[in-house]
Amino acid sequence: MTLAPTRLLHVVGTRPNFMKVAPVMAAVDAWNGAKGRGGDVSFRQRLVHTGQHYDAAMSTVFFNDLGLKEPDIYLDVRSGSQAQQTAHLMTALEPIILSESPDLVIVVGDVNSTLAAALVAVKLGIPVAHIESGLRSGDRKMPEEINRMVTDRVSDLLFTTSVAASRTLVREGVADDWTFFVGNTMIDCLETTLPVAMRRAKAAELGLSSHGYALVTLHRPSNVDDTGQLGRLAGVLMRVSERIPVVFPVHARTAGRLQAAGSLHELEQMPGVRLLPPLGYIDFLSLMSDARFVVTDSGGIQAESCVIGTPCITARTTTEWTETLQAGMNVLADPYDPKAILAAADTVLGRERLDGGVRPELWDGHAAERIVAAIAQWGTSRS
Ligand code: UD1
Repeated sequence: MTLAPTRLLHVVGTRPNFMKVAPVMAAVDAWNGAKGRGGDVSFRQRLVHTGQHYDAAMSTVFFNDLGLKEPDIYLDVRSGSQAQQTAHLMTALEPIILSESPDLVIVVGDVNSTLAAALVAVKLGIPVAHIESGLRSGDRKMPEEINRMVTDRVSDLLFTTSVAASRTLVREGVADDWTFFVGNTMIDCLETTLPVAMRRAKAAELGLSSHGYALVTLHRPSNVDDTGQLGRLAGVLMRVSERIPVVFPVHARTAGRLQAAGSLHELEQMPGVRLLPPLGYIDFLSLMSDARFVVTDSGGIQAESCVIGTPCITARTTTEWTETLQAGMNVLADPYDPKAILAAADTVLGRERLDGGVRPELWDGHAAERIVAAIAQWGTSRS
């Protein structure tokens, strides 16, 4: 018997979502294209971009770099306070999810678009799959932590990146038969793009020597929204730049805040600091793979740098990517203590930079295939 295609609706909205969904969409296409696969499940997939990130440098460039097809539906939701943005996202998504009437809504990660899509779908009685489920930093002041907890609570299929994340779901009473430890789709994407990124040689293009600079990203509200804290961090970066050149592609949120805090000009004046606009995925991976170390408050960069082999200093007191700490590739440095990041930088600089990273279990480039196989199994079980 040939079944009707299972209708999948992927919802993305921000920069870190795009590399997580691209491998899944490719794996769905591969599934549909494969001949002689057991069972009769096939898929129809559509992509919604909420427009939470809208600048070309935060969005379009990723579609180009990832070979991701144009979104079928683009919602121009844009920025706002946490409540405003989430409410706007939900209001914009509801008619789309109603008219698309998918069998499954697929969301990735922990941003406001993830939460909004999950809430709208579940309230319309449409099952939700959450990719990167079960991650917890333990810090409820992070908007992402709330997004993760609520999205997991309402999702039907839960795909985790580690055994620890799966255990968290069990502990919270969320896990059931449709919880799968599959690996990390962000690493699938890294796997296919890193060779291209290394050929790009972005560091050489910028006149930087290989392993001769620190790469910095900062965008967490807790680090950049408070003028005093942002000023402190800018001061730390200036001190780091006395030891090693600092390359800092500045996130849209951070650029506005640095300007308001008066720190942008100060950083620009530092001979060892190079400020750049937000970079595309390939350029950024290229710079990350050549850096002596990374200073970041991003989640994804902690995971990527671990596999690439570039030491990571995380300017946070908690992380949801604990496996990167266990792998010895990442250290937490209290961003409120100016000495902590400097001490971590000195430690890294005092060591040889080892070649080769560490791959946590199942971070092997095949997570998306496992996800699609599990969705096919789920689709069959419902028919
Ligand atoms: C969002 C995610 C965060 C993720 C980050 C990646 C949430 C709660 N946060 O944070 O988890 O790590 O994306 O980048 O969903 N802006 C622009 N152009 C854009 C987008 C944003 O100028 O294209 C500016 C606006 O001033 C906006 C600010 O950046 O107010 C913040 O954007 P927002 O979408 O609220 O959150 P991010 O800080 O980007």
